[in-house]
Amino acid sequence: MAEFKTVRGMRDFLPEEARLLRHVEGRAREVARLYGYREIVTPVVESYELLSAKAGEEVKSRMFLFKDLGGRDVALRPEFTASVARLVATTLRNEPRPFRLFSVGSIYRYDEPQRGRYREFWQTNYELMGSSRPEADAEILLLTHSFMQTAGLKKFALKVGHIGVLRGILTQEKLVDKVQSAVMQLMDKKQYEDAFRLVKSAGVSETCILTLRKLVELKGSNVLDVVDRVAELVRDYEKSVEASRNWGGILDLVLKSRCDVDMTVDAGFARGLEYYTGMIFEVYVPGLDIALGGGGRYDRLIELFGGDPTPAVGVAHGVDRIMLALQEQKAAQKAEEKAGEEEKTVLVVPINEGLRGQALRVSEVLRNAGVVVEVEVMGRKMVKALEDADKRKMSYAVIIGERELKEGAVVVRNLAKRVQSTVKIEDVADVVKG
Ligand code: HAM
Repeated sequence: MAEFKTVRGMRDFLPEEARLLRHVEGRAREVARLYGYREIVTPVVESYELLSAKAGEEVKSRMFLFKDLGGRDVALRPEFTASVARLVATTLRNEPRPFRLFSVGSIYRYDEPQRGRYREFWQTNYELMGSSRPEADAEILLLTHSFMQTAGLKKFALKVGHIGVLRGILTQEKLVDKVQSAVMQLMDKKQYEDAFRLVKSAGVSETCILTLRKLVELKGSNVLDVVDRVAELVRDYEKSVEASRNWGGILDLVLKSRCDVDMTVDAGFARGLEYYTGMIFEVYVPGLDIALGGGGRYDRLIELFGGDPTPAVGVAHGVDRIMLALQEQKAAQKAEEKAGEEEKTVLVVPINEGLRGQALRVSEVLRNAGVVVEVEVMGRKMVKALEDADKRKMSYAVIIGERELKEGAVVVRNLAKRVQSTVKIEDVADVVKG
């Protein structure tokens, strides 16, 4: 039989990586708790119609799409947002707003596999639904900052844009939605010349092209200043001016929070997903040119799914890429150690076959007291078993012997210090935990 491998784009997480994955997930869950986001669990398989409605051509063309045995067109989720919006448009329709909802899980996209790009990857996702106010957008930016920090990243920056500025120009120039979306897709890939060509072929004014050309040049870390210059440049486009004001308002709130968020703005920045209507952003770390997270405002999706008009803003963080960045910044080990919290681990070994039942009993007593216990299952001689425990850096061995058992005790051996003593069974957990 052929040697089996994982399917292209899929991968295994061995214990150390799995631990790092769960560490990052744990930090995300803690951030969700602190910001009042309640976790929901939605299905991995959703209807293709739902997932494709506003995903944008790029994501749409990369879905794991299939017919189930009932003949339904379904797909593996390429993001969480559509599922959360579906819930708010239906089951949660009559619940009080705002909604703060958190999700974490695997996501599927048929992307070309490369470093940091997989076909199965993990996202931690936060959606804030029901508010159109800039403080909601600011919350999503601050929450992202806080998450990246507590996950252990030392250096990262948020790139913030506003899709309303571009949309305002294109709408006033009477470009239909479909063409607008195609322009955004090209801009997302930084194919600006192609984008301008497409806009031109739609018959817009020369001033419009000139404005767009100047617009994509406007970027920098002096964020409020750049946004002021954008507002000045687009002064003939009413909706774009409005969007610039909203953009500036959000940035101003983030600055006023004094959280020291490293931000840049970029007026030519667009994102692949089609549902965005306002502020958009992505997270980057130095030396890695792929985004660690991305999100933005999408005010019309819930309505599109048949719900009440519900403004919304959210973000998804790419857990795999955060792990990669932690490894790059040599912060992974620290994060992992934290994840393990230097847990004391114990090997329980019976000195003969007749004591295997007693070994299981003592193990249960210890586990009930919260101690991590592995029981010897290989039938090895004591010396071999202890050697192995030592090699695997376990903390203690608990040796089950006839003589001690008669006194209700066992031998507890500190593997690092190579010392041992006889301890009453009920006191073992305390000794081990120090
Ligand atoms: P997105 O930008 O498509 O946004 O994905 C969010 C993050 O998922 C990316 O920044 C990246 O870290 C990670 N990611 C995407 N594709 C891959 C891949 N092939 N391999 C590894 N990681 C990947 C969304 O998904 C939106 N739903 C975010 C959102 C929530 N907007 C509003 N609410």
